[in-house]
Formats: sequence, C-alpha cells, structure tokens
Amino acid sequence: MSGEDSSDEGKKKPSAAGSNGKGRRHPRNVLNDLSGEEWLYFTRSVLRTSYPHEFSQDLRRAHGANKPPRLMMELIRFFTKSGQSVLDPFAGVGGTLLGASLCGRKATGIEINREWIDVYLKVCEQEKLEAQEMIQGDCLEVLPKLADARDPFDFVVFDPPYNVDMKVTMCNNTYGRQNRKKSYHPFSDDSRDISKVNSYEEYLDKMEEAFKHLYPILHHNRYMAIIVRDAYQDGQYIFAGYDVTKRAERSGFIPKGDTVWYQSGTRLRPYGYPYAYVPNIVHQHILVLRKE
Ligand SMILES: C[S@@+](CC[C@H](N)C(=O)[O-])C[C@H]1O[C@@H](n2cnc3c(N)ncnc32)[C@H](O)[C@@H]1O
Repeated sequence: MSGEDSSDEGKKKPSAAGSNGKGRRHPRNVLNDLSGEEWLYFTRSVLRTSYPHEFSQDLRRAHGANKPPRLMMELIRFFTKSGQSVLDPFAGVGGTLLGASLCGRKATGIEINREWIDVYLKVCEQEKLEAQEMIQGDCLEVLPKLADARDPFDFVVFDPPYNVDMKVTMCNNTYGRQNRKKSYHPFSDDSRDISKVNSYEEYLDKMEEAFKHLYPILHHNRYMAIIVRDAYQDGQYIFAGYDVTKRAERSGFIPKGDTVWYQSGTRLRPYGYPYAYVPNIVHQHILVLRKE
C-alpha cells in the first residue's frame, strides 16, 4: 500500500483488505461489489483522470459538456451493485447511461433536447450496446410521474447545466469562444432548459425543485452524486458546488463528500494577467449526498 493508503483511517477498516483478503468483496458489503482495496482507492477526495477518446467521443463531442462514460462507470460501480438501477435526470448524450451499460447496471435518463438523445442512440448503435431507457422531457415534469410509476432508484447521478447560460465567457470575451477547445453550443432552445433562467438565484431555485422531486425517487440510505463546476463571473468567484449542496440539503439530502476531479490537459488562459488574480478553474466537484 502507498503511504497515502496506509493512513490511520485505512487501518481502522481492516475488513477492507485485511480480514477479507485482497480482491474479495466483504460478505456484509451492502453498497457495491468492490473489494476492500477498490473501496478504499475510490474514497480518495482528489481524482485526476486523462481518459482516451473512446465510446464514440467523435459523436458525443457535439455536446460541449458530455462526461466520460468511464468516470460515470466508476461512480456507478461504487454506489451500486450489479443489476441495480441508476437515474440521470440531465442525461445529455448519455455519459451516465453508457457508464451503466459498461458495468451491467440498468439506467434511465431524462433529457430535454431530442438532438442529444439521438446522438446517444447513434453512439449505442456504433458501439453495439443495447440502449438504456431515455425519456425526452423536462425532468421537473417527468420526475413526479416517474416517482408514481416506478420503484425508487438505487443511485442518482448527474451533472446539471452548471449555471446561467453565459452569453460571454469568464473574461467578457477578451479571449472569447475562439479560445475554447470546443465550439460553444447552447444545450437547447427550450425555455424549460435550466440554463435558460435569468439569474443565478433562479438557477439555484430550479435545482432545489429538482432535488425535491429526486428525493422520493431514491431508495432510503442510497446516494446521489452531482458533478458541478464552480464559476467566475462579473469579477467574482462563485462557489457553485457549495451553493448547490445547500439547496439539496433543504430537500433532506445529507452531504457526505466532495471529490475534486481534475481532468488533465485543460487549457490555461491568461484571464487576469498581468494585473489581477483570476483562477483557471480546471477542476469540478463530485458532490456526494445521501438520503437517510
Ligand atoms: C451538463 S449536460 C449533461 C451532460 C451529460 N452528463 C453527458 O454525458 O452528455 C446537462 C444537460 O441537461 C439538459 N437539461 C437542461 N434542462 C433540463 C431539464 N429541465 N430537464 C431535462 N434535461 C435538461 C441539457 O439539455 C443538457 O444536455
């Protein structure tokens, strides 16, 4: 074990790799199918990834905020057992659904924009994967109906539209969209798209409404993970991860952790140089909450 893994915290949990043996699942593990070592490794609060282009990234990249299916699979593998169910209410081109397919879980996605659902279906065809359930619609309308019609899910995971749809970039277009790695692509023209609201407060209100609908649809004692990026707007840092967590708490979710995810290779831009400090936000938060 590395120095990091052999901390006191790790030693207090001998069942992880000790009594149970390396590579074996603890018989009382109610959460997932991982061995103790795999469990410990996942609980690090910093994650650095550099995934190859895979799972038809050529098609999925049309969506400027698609998430790596491999990352989603890692989250799903920790928070569910084989065969359990996963919900993504902001499914985009299906990063979560693909991740679920990769590890043998059932998934349901809700996405407002038909264009993204069609991309997901094309990806499944190209990758020879059976498509998971995708529902087109506003999740704020779909979720209450789903809660009436279905058993609760075992895990909810998503990355919502991050913030109010920005008409200009962080630096008021000084470096503009031409400095972006990918072309700017608004998620949808639908007024019910959560990024179409007029203010940050309104955005948080919408997120709070989503949490209210998500709470009853998640099994008791199960988890929700949300990927959120902080922002810098109008000369001010916005702790979006913290603000979103606070809204989720109002519905009863208990915050359990915050993994800082750094996808290496993010391009740096000289926003404040040479006058003022302006951060290059190269990380996202993976916020973990639980219904207890
Ligand atoms: C950050 S993206 C999610 C990307 C996704 N994880 C993927 O891998 O493609 C957020 C998505 O939420 C969708 N969206 C926005 N408002 C919505 C709403 N009210 N109901 C359902 N989907 C919505 C957007 O169209 C967008 O595709």
